[in-house]
Order: sequence, then C-alpha cells, then structure tokens
Amino acid sequence: MKRRIGVLTSGGDCPGLNAVLRGVVRAATNLDWEVIGFHDGFEGLLPPAQWEALDFRRTAGIMHLGGTILGTTNKGHFIVKVGEGSRTHVPPEVLEKARATLSELRIEGLIVIGGDGSLTTALQLQESGIPVVGVPKTIDNDLEATAMTFGFDSAVACVADALDRLHTTATSHKRVMVIEVMGRHAGWIALYGGLAGGGDVILLPEIPFDHEKVAEAVRRRDASGCLSTLIVVAEGACEKEGHEHVRATGSGEYTLGGVGEIVAREVARHTGKETRTCVLGHLQRGGAPTTLDRILGTRFGVAAVELIAEGKFGHMVSYQNYQILSVPIADAVHRIKLVSADSQMVQTCRAVGISFGD
Ligand code: F6P
Repeated sequence: MKRRIGVLTSGGDCPGLNAVLRGVVRAATNLDWEVIGFHDGFEGLLPPAQWEALDFRRTAGIMHLGGTILGTTNKGHFIVKVGEGSRTHVPPEVLEKARATLSELRIEGLIVIGGDGSLTTALQLQESGIPVVGVPKTIDNDLEATAMTFGFDSAVACVADALDRLHTTATSHKRVMVIEVMGRHAGWIALYGGLAGGGDVILLPEIPFDHEKVAEAVRRRDASGCLSTLIVVAEGACEKEGHEHVRATGSGEYTLGGVGEIVAREVARHTGKETRTCVLGHLQRGGAPTTLDRILGTRFGVAAVELIAEGKFGHMVSYQNYQILSVPIADAVHRIKLVSADSQMVQTCRAVGISFGD
C-alpha cells in the first residue's frame, strides 16, 4: 500500500493556494505517495468526511488560477482565534472526529495551508497527537517567522494597479482619491501597495493618524502644483486616540471597514477639495497569482512534503533570505507580525515624500 498524506486549505482564500496544492501533489507523486485533499478547510475532516484524491491530473493547469480547488472557510467547528489575541480551544470531541477520519484514511501527515488562525488550529491538532505540517498563507503578510506569505505579492499588485487607474481619473478631475485596502491589524498591503502605486499618503493600523496632518499633506501637494492626491488607507487604520472602524454585516458579526469613507469626508471638510472613495475589498484576494506567488507557493508545497518525509511535524515552511526553511508552528502564531514605525520601508516612504498622517 502506498503512503498517504492529507492537505487542506483553511481561512480566507488567497492567490497562490492552487500553486501550493500542485506543488504538494507533484512532490508527493515523485515519492510514490498518495494525496487526499479535504474540502472546505478543517470542516472536511468531520463525518461524513468530504475529500477527494488529488493526483497529477486533477492538479494540472491550476497554478495560475485564483481561489482554491478544495474550497475553504473561515467559520465552523475549528475556529480558535478571533481577532488579535483572543483564543479558544478546539473541543475534544471535534478533535476526536478529525483524528478518526485521518486514521480511517491512513493519513500519515496533514498539510494545513492557512494563516494565523488556521495555523493556531493546526498547532492544537498537533498537540493532540495528529501529525501536522503548516504552510503560511495570507494576503495580509502578518505571520511571524516567515519573511513573506504567498498571496501578499498578488494583493500588492492589485493595489498598485488600482492606484495607477485612480491616478489618471484623480488628475483629470483634480480630486483627492481615498482607497481603502485590506489589512486588519497589519498595514503591509497598504505600505507596499501604496509605495508601488505612487500613493501620497499611507495610513496604517500601526501608525495612528491625525485628520489635520492628512489635510496638511493634501494642501502641501496643492501648493506645489500637484493636481491630485492619492490616499491609501488600511481597513484597520485608526485615528490617534481612536479605535478601528467596524461595520455590521447584518448577521450579528462585524467586519473592519468604513475608515476610507471617514478619511475622505474629513479631507473634504478640512481642505474643501473634491474627494472620492474606493474600497478595493475582495478584488485583492481574487484572480491569478503573480509569478512571485506561483513560485513561492510551489516552493512551499514541495517543502511541506519534504517536512513530512523528514518527520518534522509541528513545523511550518518559512521563507527567509531567499531560502525555504522550517520553523515550529508555535513560533509563527504567538503574535502577529506588524509594520514597525521606524522600519527601513517606512523611512523610505517618508524619504520620497509620503505622509503617514502622523
Ligand atoms: O485575512 C485576510 C483578510 O483579507 C483581511 O484583510 C480581511 O479583513 C478579511 O480577510 C476579510 O475576510 P472575509 O471577508 O473573508 O471574512
């Protein structure tokens, strides 16, 4: 009988997931192993288990496709991390059902492709005796212990493209354009996307801002003859002594959002300039992965299979100095990776005249 491993994609989707799945299957096939893909994240482990055999054919021609062929969810029985820091435990009976499915299917190791929340769940599975290997995923790039997650580069490319488009219309109309981008607790997408797309003001969760300082930046640009101003706001950005802006979803839940609208309103009020808002939303999560994310995803997938071959369970693949290494999953989920206000990237942005509204 051939050796068998499992794989699942969990949490919010992002470009590059299919590249990882393809990498996993090809590396496993080379070792003459079988791969079982579970549907809809960890939920697929619960009876009646939802899975399919993944082989060379099923994963051919998927690398450039956004989303995940396995489906995913950020809800359900395995959610252990809500917001920043608050954690619960997967109930023992749920763990038991997952374990039974994996042993019935003869799975020797489970690859969990997920972000902070899903890897926290993966760690709990590992601690309960289920052999797990992690692959870091999130467009937010907010995972510790890896220099980059796949999906981030694609999201940044989407923001830069949107800014290129907004720039022409903003200039024609001599307007201020505010673009709200994803990034719950960390402003990596706003920072990198803002720099790449020629943003003039970047507002991050890590650097509380002041509406008057944002207005000052707009006035300065006006005075120097610039026809338009582009303001990039991370959804989790907040004013000095303020708090995150949340929006009710209607189902009793709240999501981040709305800060872009507030910034636009305040800029108009402080400067008298015509201002418009664009919320980029899930466009940042959809579509084809960039070449960088295809390569990183493939390398992560192959390395995850190697970790199983080495018996390095409880570890996660990690990108460091152009190399794929591994780190304990625990090192990746103990806190979120934030933008440091005095980092070289922030200094570079300031050096080219970008204001952080502080
Ligand atoms: O974690 C990625 C992320 O894109 C966040 O930036 C965003 O707040 C969240 O997911 C939205 O998730 P969803 O709409 O799927 O609940």
